[in-house]
Amino acid sequence: MDKLQDAVDILKAYNQEHIIKLLQNLDEEHKENLINDIYNIDFHQIMELYENTKKPIDIKESKIENIDYLDKAKLSKKDLEKYNELGENIIRSGQYAVVTMAGGQGTRLGHNGPKGTFKLDVYGKGKYLFEILADNLKEANDKYGVVIPWYIMTSHENNKQTVEFLKKHNYFGYDEDSIFIFEQSDLPLVDTEGKLLISKDFRIKKASDGNGGTYSSLRASGALADMKERDIKWVFIGGVDNVLLKMADVTLLGVAIDKGVQIASKSVVKSNPHEKVGVFCKMNGHPKVIEYAELPEKMAEERDENGELKYGESHIMCNLYTIEAIEKCSREPLIYHSAFKKNSYIDENGKEVIPDAPNSYKFESFIFDAFEFFDDMAILRGKREDDFAPVKNKEGVDSPKTAKELYEKYWKRQAKKVREEV
Ligand code: UD1
Repeated sequence: MDKLQDAVDILKAYNQEHIIKLLQNLDEEHKENLINDIYNIDFHQIMELYENTKKPIDIKESKIENIDYLDKAKLSKKDLEKYNELGENIIRSGQYAVVTMAGGQGTRLGHNGPKGTFKLDVYGKGKYLFEILADNLKEANDKYGVVIPWYIMTSHENNKQTVEFLKKHNYFGYDEDSIFIFEQSDLPLVDTEGKLLISKDFRIKKASDGNGGTYSSLRASGALADMKERDIKWVFIGGVDNVLLKMADVTLLGVAIDKGVQIASKSVVKSNPHEKVGVFCKMNGHPKVIEYAELPEKMAEERDENGELKYGESHIMCNLYTIEAIEKCSREPLIYHSAFKKNSYIDENGKEVIPDAPNSYKFESFIFDAFEFFDDMAILRGKREDDFAPVKNKEGVDSPKTAKELYEKYWKRQAKKVREEV
């Protein structure tokens, strides 16, 4: 009874009276679950995030410059060999680990389930996105004579399905003992008046809090400690949906080592001013990615003296860190961005409401917001046709159709190269 009264007091204090009536009418089990949720929410944080949605994003105050990069295609043979050797030594010595961020759902893609379980229609029989990633790592393992530990981040929403899927497919031939699956954190959704939404099972409705949660979840889950135990020195973090992602790129690793930086990233040239990718720049002297949704129109279209986009180095979720950098990022809070989305909910009378327009805010931190904790980073420009074939949308750009074409063309070119070398 006291617990119920405490929960009611908390709800009143934070303007969440709409939950009180519902709470009082629930059966004991549901009531207890909802009360526990209420106890575990950091209302102060949520209210602050909600207040921030009313403030415009302002990057005018900051000093923004473009960022230096190395173009892989323009490296001399000597430099390329030097970088590759530096990188290869680390991987061969077992000091390299890979993290895949697979917390997202394939909503935009229209796929019902974790995005990694989407099957891309390649070579007739198709390949799952997780399978493509596993193949890429197995290829590196064969080449460098190691088994790279693979950490897979899921979300509360998709963890069970992901675990079952990977098990069912026998981890696509990857060594099970070298796979570590961990869950990311989540945050409540709030409506335009700062009211928390209730989910169908009468809990506080939550959603994954963005891929910036990777760092703290690595630490909280014990994955970071596991890496340290394995004497890992460099950690790659990548997305789940780029079928040309190179997760063990020795050149990128070598460039980072040679430059003496703690973080590095592969980029490709932005295809047009409005492509939906984040772009690299320097803000107030620190490396930074400005996400597509937040990039001012003028900056998106700005060109340099050669007619190229001034902010044209795209972030393709191909990021590399020293273990110390991961440790640092895992301890520093990241800022949250808000996205206004459509979310169904249970109203105070227990009825489900399915909105036909966006009605609520989702709060997400972004992986690259940690870049600004560092003075510098290395950026290696790759080639779109070799490095970037994302599966994002059901149709049109970045769709299964475009990814299939790019994937098959890439492997055809690789096969030709091998034939020419023999
Ligand atoms: C992302 C990048 C964008 C980049 C583009 C390239 C972010 C915020 N944006 O955009 O800068 O140019 O990819 O393709 O990173 N994920 C989680 N948990 C979450 C949210 C996402 O694990 O809570 C994972 C997804 O599974 C996916 C990756 O993060 O692997 C990218 O997430 P998504 O939300 O699809 O980002 P984009 O909008 O495509």
